Amino acid sequence: MAEIQTIAVIGAGTMGRGIAYAAAVGGYRTILEDVAASVLEQALDWIAQSLEEAVARGKLTAEQKQQALARITTARAVEDACRTADLVIEAVPEDMELKIEIFTLLDRFARPGAIFASNTSSLSITEMAAVTCRPERCVGMHFFNPVPKMRLLEIVRALETSDATIAACVEVGRRMGKEVVIVRESPGFITSRINALIGNEAFRMLEEGIASARDIDTACKLGLNHPMGPFELVDLVGLDVRLSILEYLHKTLGERFRPSPLLVQYVKAGRLGRKAGRGVYDYRDTATETARKAESG
Ligand code: CAA
Repeated sequence: MAEIQTIAVIGAGTMGRGIAYAAAVGGYRTILEDVAASVLEQALDWIAQSLEEAVARGKLTAEQKQQALARITTARAVEDACRTADLVIEAVPEDMELKIEIFTLLDRFARPGAIFASNTSSLSITEMAAVTCRPERCVGMHFFNPVPKMRLLEIVRALETSDATIAACVEVGRRMGKEVVIVRESPGFITSRINALIGNEAFRMLEEGIASARDIDTACKLGLNHPMGPFELVDLVGLDVRLSILEYLHKTLGERFRPSPLLVQYVKAGRLGRKAGRGVYDYRDTATETARKAESG
């Protein structure tokens, strides 16, 4: 298999921009695609800030930062982004219909030898691969939020993924500075399956009045050495994202993944996490405070 030199990332949301950061730092020509110009603009700002933070922390030199920035270009359509790519990583929302639409376009417009990866956190890569003429070149590459700080890359082998495709993606992960694990396709892979269960159990405990959200978080951080409590984490990931993973795992793996009614209610109320200003915790005061400070210079 030819060496991977150019990576296209489809979708410039939280995960897409993080993956583009890792690709550029890993030395790849990187094309970041999104249909919305404003999202691309915010993504480039975020990448520049993250590179700056990496320099401040001594992870990159100022020269490496400049080189990484120079490797990134943008595109506004999947057809344009994928044409010259050796590897395309899609990071669009967790909706199978949308992913199938993207894989269909990729198969039509990308080079015959290009590999297609999905950053899905639980859905079937085999189902996406089935709409292409190259199922042996389709694979899962599951990154974690925040991508620059998280060391894992979970590589998912779908029904027909070839050994050569896995080897090429392992090498990409290594150059991005990630530790790689390989998992056979199964709903939720390793990480989402375990994480969904922990997060759901935390909501059940809250619902049962066993302890406050703060105390459940503190217990997990100080008693189990988790870097964040389950509620801090779900506010970062998004309650809607967590709920959709749980619904899929409930459908595919059974009763033990039935979403907690309290989580369902929070999502109905629009309490989706940090991105909405309110999830399990309330961030609205912090946002107002940040805005006030910015205004007063
Ligand atoms: N580039 C490179 N490295 C960077 C960096 C950057 N821009 N910014 C920070 N780092 C490095 C730091 O130098 C530090 O490295 P060392 O340990 O070598 O010093 C490391 O990243 C951690 O940085 P911080 O000190 O800022 O981080 P922290 O200690 O406050 O931890 C955290 C922050 C990593 C987010 C931690 O709280 C954590 O691990 N939380 C859990 C996050 C998690 O579980 N994410 C997965 C969510 S699930 C998901 O994403 C998938 C899904 O399917 C939904």
